[in-house]
Amino acid sequence: MIVAIDGPAGVGKSSIAKMLAEKSTFTYLNSGSFYRAYTYLHQQTGKDVTDLAGVLATAQEVQLRLIDGHIHVNGIDIEDKLRTKEVDAVVARVSAYPPLRSYVNEQLKEIAHGEDMIVEGRDITTVVFPDAELKIYFDAKPEIRAERRFKQNPEGTTYEEVLAGVKARDEIDRNKAVGALKQAEDALYIDTSYLTMEEVCEKVLSAVFALKMG
Ligand code: DC
Repeated sequence: MIVAIDGPAGVGKSSIAKMLAEKSTFTYLNSGSFYRAYTYLHQQTGKDVTDLAGVLATAQEVQLRLIDGHIHVNGIDIEDKLRTKEVDAVVARVSAYPPLRSYVNEQLKEIAHGEDMIVEGRDITTVVFPDAELKIYFDAKPEIRAERRFKQNPEGTTYEEVLAGVKARDEIDRNKAVGALKQAEDALYIDTSYLTMEEVCEKVLSAVFALKMG
């Protein structure tokens, strides 16, 4: 069974999906990590990251593996390299490149095939798994998402900078030619603005349970 989750940056998708995986038999798959990994690996080659065809070529040369929820390449765990300022600065543009999206989507489908998985991203409910048994759209106001991000990592940035970053990413995420963030018509909508992670988790687990019973 696939639980597909979409929503904007900083809405709590990753934290909640991880918590859900811990409380269930589902495995967690973060599609954003693939875009981040290819961005990082291309940056490591020292080549121009605005050359999107070049990023795709880099992607096709490496093989990513998911081990215990961490991305590995050539046996090395690169998970802790994926959320740096350098990657953050360009990953939205990299992820807007349609041929790279197709490449990532094929891998997500292959990994999830026949598994119980919670897959999160921006186009998971609309493009990658439109037939997922359960589709969820998480939402929260930009100010609240920025505040959460700022509290997680207050060093070296101001709240205003974080808010500007959240808004800039929303703009790119929502206006991509392919794979833009939008709510699937039949997705369960959850506004996480004033809910704790536990409360959100409960809502999702109730929906999973209702499906399994039905
Ligand atoms: O969720 P995240 O911030 O780790 O995602 C990194 C980038 O990849 C972000 O700019 C959105 C983009 N992304 C995407 O376009 N499609 C997905 N399915 C997941 C992430």
